[in-house]
Amino acid sequence: MVERKSSGPRVLVTGGAGYIGSHTVRALLEEGYNVVVFDDLSRGHPESIPGTPLVIGELSDPRALKDLFTHTKFDAVIHFAGESLVGESVRNPDKYFQRNVVGGLSLLSAMQRAGVKKIVFSSSAGVYGEPEEIPIPEEAPLRPSSPYGETKVMMEHALSWYDRAYGMKHMSLRYFNAAGADASGQIGEDHEPETHLIPLVIEAALRGQPITIFGDDYPTPDGTCIRDYVHVTDLAHAHVLALAALFGGSESHALNIGSGRGYSNMEIVRAVSRIAGRETPHVMGPRRDGDPAILVARTEKAREILGFVTQHSSLEHIVETAWRWHTREDR
Ligand code: UFG
Repeated sequence: MVERKSSGPRVLVTGGAGYIGSHTVRALLEEGYNVVVFDDLSRGHPESIPGTPLVIGELSDPRALKDLFTHTKFDAVIHFAGESLVGESVRNPDKYFQRNVVGGLSLLSAMQRAGVKKIVFSSSAGVYGEPEEIPIPEEAPLRPSSPYGETKVMMEHALSWYDRAYGMKHMSLRYFNAAGADASGQIGEDHEPETHLIPLVIEAALRGQPITIFGDDYPTPDGTCIRDYVHVTDLAHAHVLALAALFGGSESHALNIGSGRGYSNMEIVRAVSRIAGRETPHVMGPRRDGDPAILVARTEKAREILGFVTQHSSLEHIVETAWRWHTREDR
C-alpha cells in the first residue's frame, strides 16, 4: 500500500488503472499529489490502484467528462487512456481513431473549457515509423507505419495548437517499450489478451508452449527486431518529472523516454531463459504488419529538460521483475 503524504496539486489521471498508469499513480502518491483516476476499465484493473478515487467512464461520453471537470478543480492531467496495440491498429484503424483521437480531443476540449493548462501525454516511439537514424532523435520525421502511431502524431499536433492558442502546456512523452513490474510485486503488466514480447516469452518459458518470433529476416545482426526496453518504474518517474517541469513553468516539449539501448527479440528470449533457468521454446514466424526493424531512443533531450535518466532499466532487472510478477503466488 502506498502511503499518502499530503494534499498536493490535484491531478486527473486518465487510464490510471492500466499498466503504465497504475505505476505512475503509485509514484504520484509517493510525491504527495492528489490523484483522481478516470478509466473505463476496458483494460485497467481497479485493484492496481487501491484507495485511489476512481471515476469509471469513457472519454467519448461528454456528460462524464463535464461532470468530472465540474466536480473537481484539477491542476493538471496525465492522459494515458487509449488503445496501444500496433498490430491491432493496422487491422482496425477505426477503433484507434475513435478512441485515441476523438476521445483525446474530447479531453482537451473539456480541459480547455475548465481552464486546466497542463497535460502530460502518453505518446509513443510509434510516431517515427521506420526511422532513418538510430538512435532516433526527437527531430526525426514523424512518419508512423501504423494507425496507432498516426493517432499519437495527431494528438501531438493538436497539443501544439492548444498551447499556441490557449497556453495549454504539454509534455508528450514518446515511450519506447515499457516493460517490467513494480519491485513490490503488487502491480505489473496484465493485458488480456497479452500481445507484448516479454510477458509472452515468460509465459512460453513457464508453460513450455513455444512463442512465435515475428520475423527473422530484418536487417539486424540476428535478423530479429530490436527494441529499447524501459522499466515501467522509470517510465512512471518520467511522468513525475514531466509534471514537476510543467508546474515549474516549463515550455511544452515532446521527449523520447527510453533507455538508449536496444535488444533483439532473440536476446529477450535468451534473457528470459537465463532467469527462468530453463530453455524457452520458440519458433520463427512471418513478420507482423507495422513493425519497424529497430527502435532505439536518443535520450539526451529528456535528460536535459527533465533530468530523466533510467535507473531500473537494465535488461536483467526488467526481466527479473516481470518474472517475479508473472510467477507470483496469488495468480
Ligand atoms: N513479438 C514477437 N512475438 C510476439 C509478440 C511480439 O516476435 O508474440 C515481437 C514484435 O514483432 C516486435 C517485438 O516483439 O518485434 C516487440 O513487440 P511488442 O508487441 O512487445 O511491442 P511493440 O514494439 O510492437 O509496441 C510497443 C507498444 C507500443 C509502442 C511501441 C514503441 O505496445 O505502444 O512499443 O516501441 F508504440
